[in-house]
Amino acid sequence: MSVERLDKEETIDLRKKHIGPSCKIFFSHDPIKIVQAKGQYMYDERGQRYLDCINNVAHVGHCHPDVVKAGAQQMELLNTNSRFLHDNLVLYAQRLQATLPEKLSVCYFVNSGSEANDLALRLARQYTGHRDIITLENAYHGHVSSLIDISPYKFHQLSDAEQNPFVHVAPSPDVYRGKYRASHPDPATAYADEVKDIIDKVQKKGGKIAAFIAESLQSCGGQVIPPVGYFQQVAEHVHKAGGVFIADEVQVGFGRVGTNFWAFQLQGEDFVPDIVTMGKPIGNGHPMSCVVTTKEVAEGFMSSGMDYFNTFGGNPVSCAIGLAVLDVIVKEDLQGNALRVGRYLCNLLQKQKEKHALVGDVRGCGLFVGVELVRDRLKLTPATAEAQEVIYKLKEDHILLSADGPHRNVLKFKPPMCFTTEDADLVVEKIHIILTDYSRSCLKKSVNPLEFVAFK
Ligand SMILES: Cc1ncc(COP(=O)(O)O)c(C=O)c1O
Repeated sequence: MSVERLDKEETIDLRKKHIGPSCKIFFSHDPIKIVQAKGQYMYDERGQRYLDCINNVAHVGHCHPDVVKAGAQQMELLNTNSRFLHDNLVLYAQRLQATLPEKLSVCYFVNSGSEANDLALRLARQYTGHRDIITLENAYHGHVSSLIDISPYKFHQLSDAEQNPFVHVAPSPDVYRGKYRASHPDPATAYADEVKDIIDKVQKKGGKIAAFIAESLQSCGGQVIPPVGYFQQVAEHVHKAGGVFIADEVQVGFGRVGTNFWAFQLQGEDFVPDIVTMGKPIGNGHPMSCVVTTKEVAEGFMSSGMDYFNTFGGNPVSCAIGLAVLDVIVKEDLQGNALRVGRYLCNLLQKQKEKHALVGDVRGCGLFVGVELVRDRLKLTPATAEAQEVIYKLKEDHILLSADGPHRNVLKFKPPMCFTTEDADLVVEKIHIILTDYSRSCLKKSVNPLEFVAFK
């Protein structure tokens, strides 16, 4: 069977004609057509292999045979909705629960990270009877209207008048570039106090806090790792105000951080959110997601008297796939691999920081790693153009990486969890060559490399 049905040019033409222009494509001037993938590799229509350093959806590896088989076998038997009894639904809920603290015991299955976060907001508002939401600067929580409202990553493009008055933005707990940095004696308390100030202001105006929502590690926001103790203190302030804590694990859950299965656990065992949302890696590419919460919140939601029904959420095929993903994580020790390879990758990148002034910061937990490029290590001037250039040059070397954060200057690693030390060696060596060429071309033109924007 041919894996390509159209010439690349025809694919491009049809896409231009029929697909909404706001659906952006990677490398728009020379897009990549991917027709096959396996493990941490993707293949274009000519069979060219690309190393995938960014796809956290293909968590256990692209097209993992165990996951594909589990889905296909269940599809041959039955797929229907959760209004019928089915073992896959309850067995999956039980398995998922076993990875979480005990009090997070009730699941709602949905189909995307956006649906999960939208439902989390409904749960929080129904349970608390409050309306106001606190979100973090640069956060992204999904594409539906309720989530654009709480996603400064998107809504900063809107005018003040278009922003939701019930949404309040707290500073990103970024100890590299944020308001309180690593040199601060207690950045966790300082950032949590900012949340408390917001709560006080909201309450003075007669508002009531329903929830604080944050990714356990900010992804689109620039691979930000909050200081330990921040979530505990925020949760205390939010609970005092009668609100709940929602941890968005859509990007970072399922063992990616290496030391723990859930990224919120990096804050310590004494921290348990009231609601956790999951997505992307949960189905290894199959569209499924989940909201897990406490019995109390679930009962509060029930008290509205309104049934919750979701046509596809928790169907037997999705649950079979979810079970297979959990099995593969254990069978192949992918959490352990994330820890080992993540540490190896971070060490290699730290060495790049010693060699290249452009590398301002290297931060990571497991296979969630950020490299922030700056033109000035004191002023932290974002090296945005340089980051884009690194991404484009890596593409020429058939390596897929992306840059994100509010200044698009943070190189973002979140590869499939089967990523190896050899893969890490390859991508870091290429980055080294690119940054060395950059310094040389600056020297040739007798300019300070940190003031020279274009590579060519
Ligand atoms: C942190 C986070 N939450 C939620 C979402 C929304 O997930 P989906 O695109 O599956 O709706 C995303 C998507 O990128 C995300 O990064």
